Amino acid sequence: MARIYLSPPDVGPAERKAVMRAFDSNWITTLGPEVDAFEAEVCALTGAPSAAALSSATAALHLALAMSDVGPGDEVWVSTLTFVAPVNAVKYLGASLRFIDSEPETWNMDPELLASELTAAAEQDRLPKAVVAVDLYGQCAQLDRIAEICDSYGVTLIEDAAEAIGASWKDKHAGTYGRFGVYSFNGNKIMTTSGGGMLVGSAEDMARARYLASQARQPVPHYEHDEVGYNYRLSNILAAMGRAQLERLPSIIDRCFQINATYRAELGQLDGIDFMPWDERGKTNGWLTVMTLAPELVTSGVSPLDVCDALAAQEIEARPAWKPMHQQKVFASVPLAGGAVSDDIFDRGVCLPSGSTLTDEDLERVIAALRGALAGPTNTR
Ligand SMILES: Cc1ncc(COP(=O)(O)O)c(C=O)c1O
Repeated sequence: MARIYLSPPDVGPAERKAVMRAFDSNWITTLGPEVDAFEAEVCALTGAPSAAALSSATAALHLALAMSDVGPGDEVWVSTLTFVAPVNAVKYLGASLRFIDSEPETWNMDPELLASELTAAAEQDRLPKAVVAVDLYGQCAQLDRIAEICDSYGVTLIEDAAEAIGASWKDKHAGTYGRFGVYSFNGNKIMTTSGGGMLVGSAEDMARARYLASQARQPVPHYEHDEVGYNYRLSNILAAMGRAQLERLPSIIDRCFQINATYRAELGQLDGIDFMPWDERGKTNGWLTVMTLAPELVTSGVSPLDVCDALAAQEIEARPAWKPMHQQKVFASVPLAGGAVSDDIFDRGVCLPSGSTLTDEDLERVIAALRGALAGPTNTR
């Protein structure tokens, strides 16, 4: 039985052709015409003024924080419900963290909680240097409100849209609300370069990002360095692959929507089964379909891990929702605002196979396996 994965890459002849085009041109290294074109095409899609193609979204977050002047003695506030990358990037710079809980509407950073925390911090003269708001599972946070709140306190907003290229909030693209936006092209994302990322922002910031990402080498013939830099640029070959993926992104998103609609139609009527809300003020890219189990179901013995185990026994990959950062041992001492919403999402959320390569037959197999798993010990609907 072939294994069904959560979100495998959707690549084929178009990507192979693009990689070979770059290969045959002999631009094998970092930088090159494919990188320039990929950056321009991401700007055309997102409306971002400028872009810097990098080796990962984690590198992009690191540079965004460094360029926001974050360092020891500063605080950076990050969504607690996230993959660990933005939190690690804050630690690379020796800064302190504070975690902000999600809201039920989008599962992303709660803007009103952020506002009340910033008010309290301003009164005590301990405002953070930056806020990193994450757009989870392809859906944007309430970015207009978050940007407005950060602006009113003069705090830099970095938008971690690693999971959200192709998504928008109130008709403005994910990644374009803050001073910096970040996309990931990791192998499990909605589009991939096998590994890679993009930082977007103003032309001035992106010129500096490209310079810092190239070992901060001065533009002179010999090797001249006035400050510490990084080796973070994307290779020309991978950028070519990214361009082919970008062209196919609309059809990939369409397929993710069909998959989500099928799950909802087939499983949504079952008692105790629901899905991550898709807030209609925005447009998700549909990257992952996340199912939620009602609390009664969980207490009756059908937990997210049980569901994942039952699917794994049938060669189907599923995962619990992100485990909040405040529950991670390594960040146990980090101050937290709220926490109940993200705890609840982690307790009840299951990420289902959602990749655009999933066939209708695969989907049927997943749905049948889920029906079996959800019948569980006490759920006898
Ligand atoms: C929210 C979020 N931020 C950052 C990253 C890091 O991306 P990358 O693997 O490209 O460094 C990921 C996923 O990998 C992510 O899901």
